[in-house]
Amino acid sequence: MKHAHIIGWGHYFPPRELSNDEISKVVDTSDEWIQARTGIASRHIVETETTTQMAFEAAARAIAIADISPSEVDLVIVATSTPENMFPSTASQVQALLGADSAGAFDLSAACSGFVYGLDMATQAIKTGAVRTAVVIGAEKMSRVLDWDDRGTCILFGDGAGAVVLQGSNIPGGVMASMLRSDGSGGNVLSLPAVYENPVPFLNGSGPKKGENRNVIDMEGRQVFRFATRVIPQIVNEVIEQAGIAIEDVALIVPHQANTRIIESAAKKLGINPNRFFLNVNHAGNTSAASIPIALCEAVQAGRLKPNDIVIFVGFGGGLTWAASVIRWDAGPNYQDNPGIARMRYGLNRYRMRYRQLHRSVMARIGGSPTPNARLKDADKKK
Ligand code: UT7
Repeated sequence: MKHAHIIGWGHYFPPRELSNDEISKVVDTSDEWIQARTGIASRHIVETETTTQMAFEAAARAIAIADISPSEVDLVIVATSTPENMFPSTASQVQALLGADSAGAFDLSAACSGFVYGLDMATQAIKTGAVRTAVVIGAEKMSRVLDWDDRGTCILFGDGAGAVVLQGSNIPGGVMASMLRSDGSGGNVLSLPAVYENPVPFLNGSGPKKGENRNVIDMEGRQVFRFATRVIPQIVNEVIEQAGIAIEDVALIVPHQANTRIIESAAKKLGINPNRFFLNVNHAGNTSAASIPIALCEAVQAGRLKPNDIVIFVGFGGGLTWAASVIRWDAGPNYQDNPGIARMRYGLNRYRMRYRQLHRSVMARIGGSPTPNARLKDADKKK
């Protein structure tokens, strides 16, 4: 049976940092309150960057560390709740920017658990042998879906992207177990409307009126807090049992980064020291689906993972969803930053994308590719 190994990892933060003091100029809050109640001091926010660009940057870095060619990638999954479009998917755009010409690509919606869901989907695809190499990305521009008048939510979130490259091998190790959970009955405690529903002229009075439906996060903070502190210890215990290991065997837990107090409470319930959890919420805030792969990269950079260590990823969030994975960290330490040649190739990909778009529109104008319907009509006329 094939095993899915993490062979590359990368992350991207937009350069603009936003401090608590800056936020306190637009809502009634303070650096002291935010740090004490959440552990967050600052977060990064996009100025001009898109979710697609951040996802691409993280993926390109992960591919450089994996030391593979983008043409080896069979599958690109982007976990995001803040795509530029419902379609084309962020994943398809990233696939084209990478020049991953043999890959399938799709976006996945499971809020802050999305990265762990994506990791499991890719692992299952690798285990069947259908896919050999997959890139799993979490990418978010949360700053664009916040109500900046709501101090209960706008202080929490940040932007960024993280990615891993998974590759199949017959050598045991890599992703040892995964568990995905959902409870849709709690959907109302943490939500973000996906589509602005335009009034439909034929349907009198049906649907929201203009301006009624704002695409911002709505959250019952205390309920989400209680949910998170309940499910983290529960799913961690379940997934280690499935992997056939004990909590003492776990070197590090990389949780979804939402609130330091949530992690402290979960550690207490698990009976372990909170420093067994890796935390970067202090400077990243909550980057939803991007938070676990970003934290993983920072944990590797900080030397918190050694070869053969066992690491757990645990995510929780909107849906409600929660998920966990146990991974044997057997990736070779192959730290090379983006070699110039790869960057050049990605630059050329942008031109290639534009060339293909132009080619498609020229062909459409000169009637080079009629639809099957048009072809049938032509055939009918000739009869
Ligand atoms: O990815 C998963 C997403 N979400 C989460 O993980 C969030 C989980 N929840 C939390 O992290 C916490 O519930 C929050 C940080 C959101 C809120 O902290 P809390 O300790 O649960 O505060 P609270 O909602 O119980 O509010 C306590 C007080 C209230 O004032 P009163 O009614 O006691 O006078 C709030 O109005 O704190 C007030 N408050 C604030 N004060 C200053 C709420 N937000 C703020 C704020 N600054 N930003």
